[in-house]
Amino acid sequence: MTQSNSGAFTLTNKTTGDSWDLPVIDGSLGPSVIDVRKLYGQTGHFTFDPGFTSTGSCESALTFIDGDKGVLLHRGYSIEDLAEHSDFLDVAYLLIYGELPNKAEKANFDRDVTYHTMVHEQMMNFFRGFRRDAHPMAIMCGVVGAMSAFYHDSTDIHDEHQRMVATFRLIAKMPTIAAMAYKYSIGQPFNYPKNNLSYAENFLDMTFRVPAEEYKMSPTIARAMDRIFILHADHEQNASTSTVRLASSSGANPFACIAAGVACLWGPAHGGANEAVLNMLMEIGHKDNIPEYLEKAKDKNDPFRLMGFGHRVYKNYDPRAKVMQKSCYEVLEELDLKDPLLDLAMELERIALEDPYFVEKKLFPNVDFYSGIVLKALGFPTSMFTVLFAVARTVGWVAQWKEQIEDPTLKIGRPRQLYTGPEQRDYVPLGKRS
Ligand code: ACO
Repeated sequence: MTQSNSGAFTLTNKTTGDSWDLPVIDGSLGPSVIDVRKLYGQTGHFTFDPGFTSTGSCESALTFIDGDKGVLLHRGYSIEDLAEHSDFLDVAYLLIYGELPNKAEKANFDRDVTYHTMVHEQMMNFFRGFRRDAHPMAIMCGVVGAMSAFYHDSTDIHDEHQRMVATFRLIAKMPTIAAMAYKYSIGQPFNYPKNNLSYAENFLDMTFRVPAEEYKMSPTIARAMDRIFILHADHEQNASTSTVRLASSSGANPFACIAAGVACLWGPAHGGANEAVLNMLMEIGHKDNIPEYLEKAKDKNDPFRLMGFGHRVYKNYDPRAKVMQKSCYEVLEELDLKDPLLDLAMELERIALEDPYFVEKKLFPNVDFYSGIVLKALGFPTSMFTVLFAVARTVGWVAQWKEQIEDPTLKIGRPRQLYTGPEQRDYVPLGKRS
């Protein structure tokens, strides 16, 4: 963070003629920021930015997005390169420690994650308290939050060792918990993790293995799972990450903070979108119906939106969507599947990208547009889609949480507001109210 050479902004009150200089701070890439931290003290005014469309909430060295060009970098490396050449734990190490690991560091990191994958045996009882038909995300919210009850020896955020143990526990146990949430919902026994498998293989195995037989998976399928995890690992200050940071700013323990992130991710405008895409494609049903649904998406009086299209930051093709589209073809070919929903999705994309409404508003497919089709081909029910996103994003949440905790300037996050309610008035006793 450096003071800008481009100087300062001057804010002038046109009524009084008072003016204030607001410093500008440069990052390494992307727009500079106007430092408004002293604005209220100096002017008596707040800024107003619902939805945080123009607000930088923190300083971060993890992830950079250029939404206009469709660029996503983690610690300077492009998402395309990482998805092509790294595995998920490589990316996790990069996000957490800032550099790609060398061979020894990678081996140690993989081992440390692998040896934290089992969950406390008592957790089985906790799971059994849920209804069988509970949504797996509802179970995730509860079980991840409950981790602080099972692992209270790694909840002291001021102890570096405990922070490190909590980091490994969260990254390692999320797939186990996610697979358990799935198994519970379909009435099958839980599977223990296997240490000879990679992160993605282990997750697939815990999810799909049944006691009666071994689960066989091809390298293409395991690679596709791993790639889905990489594509969802981190995405700057999105809603769930900001939720984690806000929760953590109060000093809350890491498991409680990540549970807050899981809850936020569940919403259909965020992590729930790939489930919504698949539901939408099934509802559209046939190519002939696409124009009707595009009209609905454009109609301001109709709540229908084209799910998997549009993004707060990307005003170009989401780079993750391109990688996901490639994965989609690979998986369907490997499994020798012909999914009519893929044809429908491609036709929908083609027509929407030629439609002036979508062109003018710069609405492009986002990562969720194709991920649902891949996940369906891998055998996941739609209710598990957001759960998988939560497993992957845990890495980003934890890395951002660590970065925030280690920032000596950390303050509790406490936004202000524009109050529009009644002014102070006299209390009316019950008997005198009309
Ligand atoms: N279909 C139809 N119109 C849309 C869509 C869409 N999918 N997305 C945005 N628009 C329109 C809006 O109506 C708005 O029109 P207006 O300017 O005439 O009012 C304009 O495009 C700008 O959209 P906003 O909603 O203001 O943009 P915002 O940044 O708030 O929303 C969001 C981004 C939530 C992702 C939105 O595009 C959306 O709802 N998309 C569908 C859901 C989705 O795919 N979410 C996944 C996001 S990626 C992720 O979380 C991993």
